[in-house]
Amino acid sequence: MEYQRKIQHSAAYIQEKLGKIQDGCVGLVTGTGLGGLTDSIENPVSIPFGDIDRFPVSTVKSHTGRLVSGSIDGVPVLALEGRFHLYEGFTPLEATHNIRVLGELGVGTLILTNAAGALNPSFETGSPMLIEDHINLTGQTPLRGENVDEWGDRFPDMCAVYDPALRQLAVDKALALGIRLERGVYMQITGPNMETPAETRMYRMMGADAIGMSTCMEAIAAHHMGIRLLAISCLTNKNLPDCMQEASLDDVIRQAGKSSAAMTKLIRAVLKEIP
Ligand code: HPA
Repeated sequence: MEYQRKIQHSAAYIQEKLGKIQDGCVGLVTGTGLGGLTDSIENPVSIPFGDIDRFPVSTVKSHTGRLVSGSIDGVPVLALEGRFHLYEGFTPLEATHNIRVLGELGVGTLILTNAAGALNPSFETGSPMLIEDHINLTGQTPLRGENVDEWGDRFPDMCAVYDPALRQLAVDKALALGIRLERGVYMQITGPNMETPAETRMYRMMGADAIGMSTCMEAIAAHHMGIRLLAISCLTNKNLPDCMQEASLDDVIRQAGKSSAAMTKLIRAVLKEIP
């Protein structure tokens, strides 16, 4: 299958540059304004996305677009700074190329971060939110089309996309560090337009606590491959339908930057104890 071959080309390129990926290597995808997490990588080796054979290249100004390999507190990591969004014109298969490559390289655990708007009125801007479940409202899925049986089932179960043990670990670590960690349901829309007040009201009624433009595609692809998943949103703005406030990309980046230290602290604490 053509798509699988593309993934294998990208994986082979990375393996040629970095050598065999270490056992226990954890994948990281950093969202808008959260690239700072990769600053804590020791002995970093970085590869621009543009150099990786058949890898898509992100067009978003807030995303650097590079892979950084190294370790954080002794844990081997492969971090992808930047991702691929449906709103950029990428298909669901292209938008999950990054995840498929990590899976192909043997990454068994993945931490996704993103910037999201809070819909739950009790959530504070700036807090991290542990994603407990999601609503994929894009009408699209990276599993459409021929199934790659080596990767996963044709009809994968979606009971627990976000690994319960990793979620508990994140809750425990946040408590120990004194970080306020919200928990909730993430909804993905395609974007790039933000939501109207009427849509915001509807999304909240549908059961979403936060909304963004990235993570469901990646989570579905990762779960399909049997990758253990932890996902944390940085709540960069709050959308209340009766008093909507404008949220520009600059606001989102600024807020994510402010929250990045707490997010990094939490993720480092989790990384150290990943079973
Ligand atoms: N809506 C959609 N995506 C987002 C938002 C939002 O309010 N904030 C950050 N990403």
